[in-house]
Amino acid sequence: MKTTHKLIIGSSELMPELADSSIQLIVTSPPYFNAPFDYEGFYYNYDKYLEVMSTVSKEMYRVLDKGRILILNIDDMLVNGVKYPITADFTKILQGVGFLYRDRIIWKKPDGYLRISRRSGVLLQHPYPMYFYPDNLLESLLIFQKGEFDYKSIPDTLKQESKIDLDEFKKNKWYSNLWHITNVLPNAKYENGVAAFPDEIPRRFIKLFSYKGETVLDPFLGSGTTMKVAIELQRNSVGYELKPELEEKITKKLKLDCTDIFIDYDVNFEVIRRF
Ligand SMILES: C[S@@+](CC[C@H](N)C(=O)[O-])C[C@H]1O[C@@H](n2cnc3c(N)ncnc32)[C@H](O)[C@@H]1O
Repeated sequence: MKTTHKLIIGSSELMPELADSSIQLIVTSPPYFNAPFDYEGFYYNYDKYLEVMSTVSKEMYRVLDKGRILILNIDDMLVNGVKYPITADFTKILQGVGFLYRDRIIWKKPDGYLRISRRSGVLLQHPYPMYFYPDNLLESLLIFQKGEFDYKSIPDTLKQESKIDLDEFKKNKWYSNLWHITNVLPNAKYENGVAAFPDEIPRRFIKLFSYKGETVLDPFLGSGTTMKVAIELQRNSVGYELKPELEEKITKKLKLDCTDIFIDYDVNFEVIRRF
C-alpha cells in the first residue's frame, strides 16, 4: 500500500493545507509551556502559551473527522519554582472548542528516570513536615473525541486488515490506564535537543484508533516520531513543525536522506516550507 506523508514547516496555529474533517487521528505532544531545558523563554508568559494552544486546538477540531480521536501527551510543568496546571488547562481548552474528554492514561517512565531535579531531595535535607516535593516519573496521555464514531462506516475488509493483535494487547497491558514505557534516552541519535516521545506512544495509539490507509496528524512534529510510525503502520500522515532546522533531523529519522530506503514501504513524501 502506498502512503503519503506531508511535512509542513510552519506553525500549526493555522493549517490551511488541510481540509475540514480530513484527518482520522491526531497524536501529538506540544511544548510544555516554558519547560526548563527544552523551551526556556519560548512563550512570553503562560497566558500567551494558552492562547497559542487554544488557536491550535480550534484548528485540530476543524480538521479532525467526525467521531475521531485526539491524543495529547502533556503534563504539568515546574517553571522557575511555579507549578503550572497545564493538563487541566489544556483539557478545558479542548472541551471549549468542542472535544469530548474520553480518558486519561498515565505514562510511567522507569524509576531511574528523573529529568529535572531531585525535588524530593529537599526533604532529605530538611526531614520535617512541609518540605515534601515529589519527583515526577509520570506524564499524561489524554484521549479526546470529536463526537460519536460511526462503526458501520468502516468496510469489513479494512477492519480485518487493521485488526489489533490481542496477544500484544494483553501482554503489554494496553487495557489498563497505566502504561509502563521507557522514555527516549538523552543521547538518542535522531532526537537530540527535541523533547521526543518514544515510538511506542504513537505506535499504540495509531493501532488502537486508526485504520490502515487513514491519515494521522501531528501538529507539533518535533523529530518526526509520529510520521515515522505512521509510515511503518501504513497510515498517511501530516506533520507541522515550527523550527526549520528540524527538517534535516526529521528526514534523517524517516531515513529519507538515503535513496535505497523504504525498500519495505512504498512512500510519497513532500515538504512544504512556508518560510
Ligand atoms: C514536545 S516537541 C514534540 C516532539 C515529538 N513528539 C517527537 O517525538 O519528536 C514539540 C514540538 O513542537 C514544535 N512547535 C512549537 N510550537 C509550534 C507551532 N505553533 N506549530 C508547529 N510546531 C510547533 C516545537 O518546535 C517542538 O519541536
